[in-house]
Amino acid sequence: MKKVKVGLGKNSYEIHIGPGIITQVGHWLKESGFSDKLVIITNPVVKRLYGETLEQNLTREGFRVSMLQVPDGEEQKSLETAGRLYHELSNSYAERTTPILALGGGVIGDLAGFVAATYLRGVPLVQIPTTLLAQVDSSIGGKVAVNHGQLKNKIGAFYQPRLVMSDISTLRTLHPRELANGLAEVIKSAVIWDKEFFAYLEENLDEIKSLDVRHLEEMVFRTAEIKAEVVEKDEKDLGLRNILNYGHTIGHAIESAADFKVGHGESVAIGMLAAAKISNRLGILDINEVTRLRNLIKRANLATEIPNLDLDRIIQAMGHDKKIIGGKIRFVLPKAIGDVFITDEVDLSLVEQVLVGWNEET
Ligand SMILES: NC(=O)c1ccc[n+]([C@@H]2O[C@H](COP(=O)([O-])OP(=O)(O)OC[C@H]3O[C@@H](n4cnc5c(N)ncnc54)[C@H](O)[C@@H]3O)[C@@H](O)[C@H]2O)c1
Repeated sequence: MKKVKVGLGKNSYEIHIGPGIITQVGHWLKESGFSDKLVIITNPVVKRLYGETLEQNLTREGFRVSMLQVPDGEEQKSLETAGRLYHELSNSYAERTTPILALGGGVIGDLAGFVAATYLRGVPLVQIPTTLLAQVDSSIGGKVAVNHGQLKNKIGAFYQPRLVMSDISTLRTLHPRELANGLAEVIKSAVIWDKEFFAYLEENLDEIKSLDVRHLEEMVFRTAEIKAEVVEKDEKDLGLRNILNYGHTIGHAIESAADFKVGHGESVAIGMLAAAKISNRLGILDINEVTRLRNLIKRANLATEIPNLDLDRIIQAMGHDKKIIGGKIRFVLPKAIGDVFITDEVDLSLVEQVLVGWNEET
């Protein structure tokens, strides 16, 4: 088992990473002095796989457990579902000291986190992430939110969990598409922060894809460490934390221009590659680094083609998402693998140049 500390003063917490950790949640909650009543929020998919194991462990440790379920899917990240959960929490006699355990992927983590942040002005939150994306990204850093109409993730709070328990055994039941989604964020973390970790991924990606426990644990640990370090330096997303958006400027635009028919991981992968190419065209990033990135992305089973590429829609979506000032747009660009910078000076015409003929080049 490995541990990462997220040092945020009185909001500090630990991330525990390892196989079978779900059976230790009760022990750690007791050690942390939690009350004897708990509420788990999950969905039917995750409940069927891991709900019973977690519940049994908690009951054995003497906790009284209520399990609340929401249907699977991003559309559950809504004020309506949050409203229903407030009602059910109240019916379960949840109090200020009753922890909410978010058991599931990023959707459950964000939704249950939002509910924990707001119910009774805040109850303790424990993240038990079960997707790779949630283990390396969404469970760490305290961003909790629901969507509201076009406002994705815009109704929310910064609300740090008290503990994150990442059981890497849960990754064994993930759909390969969800594993690839998470790998996109893992590769992103290596590019923005740690060239040695990038080399580690190049060397060990096959073992990781075959779900080798030792390598999965190492990968989740190193990525969690990077996210923790970035969040420690900029908890409220006022500067440095923006680098975590590497690949997301174009990625989000592709996702929405393709009516969400391109997966999130793939969109981010295309966005990372496009940003790398922009940096290369600006004379900053070496072409060999672009090639290394492209190769790793492909090996992670992330397709880099853009189906029905409609450049105008992509550019339009970028304008909708971000501020374009005087034909220039904000980008996170790599200087080298392991080192990025933020610039407001990327010309839209350069973005267009990189995207024209994309499918032939990649
Ligand atoms: N808060 C943050 O900082 C942050 C960061 C990145 C993404 N997000 C959010 O995360 C969400 C995406 O999260 P996600 O990719 O985990 O998607 P998800 O939560 O929808 O999970 C993907 C699918 O996998 C299923 N699943 C979960 N664990 C499983 C397991 N162990 N085995 C089999 N199936 C399992 C889920 O039921 C779901 O069908 C988005 O809403 C996004 O906005 C938040």
